[in-house]
Amino acid sequence: MISALRKYLLIPRLIRLSSAAPKDPLTAWDQYWGRIRSTGAAGDVLWDSGSAHELNSYLPHLQLLDPTIPIVDVGCGNGSFTRLLAQHFPHALGLDYSANAVDRARQEAAGITTASFAVCDMTAPDAAQTVGKALEAAGWTGNANVFIRGVLHVLDRNGQAALAANLLPVVGARGGVFLAETNFPGTPVDYVSHLGATRKFIPAPLEGAIRGLPMPGRFGATQRAKAFPTADWNLVRDGSASIETRPLSNPTSPDLIPGYYALLRARQR
Ligand SMILES: C[S@@+](CC[C@H](N)C(=O)[O-])C[C@H]1O[C@@H](n2cnc3c(N)ncnc32)[C@H](O)[C@@H]1O
Repeated sequence: MISALRKYLLIPRLIRLSSAAPKDPLTAWDQYWGRIRSTGAAGDVLWDSGSAHELNSYLPHLQLLDPTIPIVDVGCGNGSFTRLLAQHFPHALGLDYSANAVDRARQEAAGITTASFAVCDMTAPDAAQTVGKALEAAGWTGNANVFIRGVLHVLDRNGQAALAANLLPVVGARGGVFLAETNFPGTPVDYVSHLGATRKFIPAPLEGAIRGLPMPGRFGATQRAKAFPTADWNLVRDGSASIETRPLSNPTSPDLIPGYYALLRARQR
């Protein structure tokens, strides 16, 4: 009982750390990406395991998407998943609203001719046009598939709905949306404790996220049903997923966050 309550002693430290984070999410994300020095399994980014293992677990679902059209990685960060997706689709376009993230993703993908990147706020009214122009710049027109990992759970409900609505013209009749999101069932204290934070020690990649970024929420079937209403979307399949972090509790294997995946198609009228 006492040991179960001990994690709540973390609260003052969490409040102190997170009070320094910029209140505007775009500013917070851009400053975060500007501070990152290294990525991958030994890097600074909490959700970058440096491995293809998580993406490979999604392949049975991604194989239901049209493999002859490009895939758009929405909220690509440093582009780890964009680079992996470029091995399975003819082109992978990574989009992020942080210019620092896009710069970093471009550097990390140097030499991969089937990946490109652009700055785009996917909740903005002109997002679908920006996606169309970025695809055109890479030599593609028409519908595309969409991949989203770890983005919807950082948006509020309005942002989630705006992003989903912007995807309708992108996927059209041929594309599909695959999403995989953190769906942790507890409080923020439970969440950081799950990732190894104690009163005395917080793993550095986790501390960097707490210090610099807005507190994330969760995204599961309930949130998906609101953001992707049945009037606009057909749910093809969904279920639980494991979101892999950079190794935290031991040096070689990632820590796992309970997650949710869904595969959707735009309803044709
Ligand atoms: C937790 S990171 C995930 C990055 C990447 N998808 C991955 O799994 O490695 C969330 C990313 O979403 C981006 N993001 C948040 N809101 C966005 C928006 N409205 N439009 C585009 N990107 C956004 C952030 O800048 C950040 O890079």
